[in-house]
Amino acid sequence: MSISKVVSSKVTSQKSIEERLQIKRLVEATRIVTSTAGSDIVKGLTQIPKSLPAYYFYDDQGSDLFEQICELPEYYLTRTETAILQQYAGEIAQITGACELVELGSGSSTKTRILLDAYQELGYLQRYLPIDVSAGMLENSARQLLGDYPSLQVYALAGTYEMALAQLPPTQSPSRMVGFIGSSLGNLNPQECDNFFSQITNALQVGEYFLLGIDLQKPKEILEPAYNDRQGVTAAFNINMLEHLNRRFEGDFNTTQFEHWSFYHETAHQIEMHLRSLRSQTVQLKSLNLTVNFATGETILTEISRKFDLKTIQQQLKTRGLVPIQTWTDSNQWFGLLLCQLQA
Ligand code: AVJ
Repeated sequence: MSISKVVSSKVTSQKSIEERLQIKRLVEATRIVTSTAGSDIVKGLTQIPKSLPAYYFYDDQGSDLFEQICELPEYYLTRTETAILQQYAGEIAQITGACELVELGSGSSTKTRILLDAYQELGYLQRYLPIDVSAGMLENSARQLLGDYPSLQVYALAGTYEMALAQLPPTQSPSRMVGFIGSSLGNLNPQECDNFFSQITNALQVGEYFLLGIDLQKPKEILEPAYNDRQGVTAAFNINMLEHLNRRFEGDFNTTQFEHWSFYHETAHQIEMHLRSLRSQTVQLKSLNLTVNFATGETILTEISRKFDLKTIQQQLKTRGLVPIQTWTDSNQWFGLLLCQLQA
C-alpha cells in the first residue's frame, strides 16, 4: 500500500473538527457577566479603599500581556509549574485512569497539552472540557487542539466557573478530573476560596479528581521581582486595566497619571497589586454614569495573589472532602501541584 493510500484511509476514518467540537454558551452566565459588569466597578471605585476585580485584566490586550508575563525571567511561576507537569503528567494519568479533563480558566491551553499528551499515550484521551469567560479564546484554542489531537472531542463551556461547574454535561468516561492550574486560586480571598471549593465538590462524583496548581510561600526577594519585572510588562498589564475600562465603559482615565505599585504583604502571605494616583484628579466612566475623585497617592487594589503553605492547603482541602492523594513540587519547593480525590 502506498503512503498516500494509508494517509487517505486514515483521514476518512477520522471525524472532522466540526464533528468533534461543541461550544456551549452559558446564557445565564453571560447575562450575569454583563449585568454585573458595571456594578462591580461602581462598587469598587466608590468604596474606601478603592478596588477593582482582577478579571478586568483580561481583555484581548491584557491576555496578550499576561502571556508575555509568563515568559519573563522574574516570573518563575509558569516555568516551574510546566516543569512539574512535564515530570509528573504520566503519573497523574496513571493514577486517575481513563478520565475526562475539565479545565477552569483554560486560556490558551498551553500547559494542558502536557496532560493531554500523557492521557493520549495511555490511550485514555477522550474528551476535554475547557471553561473560560472568553468565548473567542475558547473557540480558537479548541480548534487548534482538535487539529493536533485527531481523536479528541472538545466540549467548551463559555461562562463563569460557577455557572459552568453547575452545568457540566454527563461524564462519558469512567472518571473526571477538574483542573485548576496556574495558581489562579491565589486571586480568591479565603471566603471566596471556600465557596469555590464547595462548587468543586458539588461538580464531582465521589472518587473523581481535582488537580490544583498553587504558588507557595517564599522569600519576598523572589516574590517581589516576579510582580515588578525590569521590562515593565507587569506594570503595563496593571495599567491596561484602566485602558480596558476606558474602552469598555467610555472612561477617561489618564493612564500617565497612575503608576503600578506592588509588594508582598508578608503576614497576609499575598502579593498586592495597586494602581496609585500621581495627583488629585477626577475620572469619569460615562456609560456607567460614574464620576470618581482621587487624592494624590490614593490607590486602587487591582489584585491579590496569595502564596500558600502546602500543609495548610492540604488540610483545608481534606476538610472539604477533597483529599490530597499526591503532591508534587519542584526542587526549590516554589510551586505545588496537588491531585485530590473527592471522598464521601
Ligand atoms: C494568573 C492569577 C496566577 O497572580 O501571578 C501575574 C496573575 N498578576 N502578574 C498571578 C498575575 C500579575 C497571576 N495569576
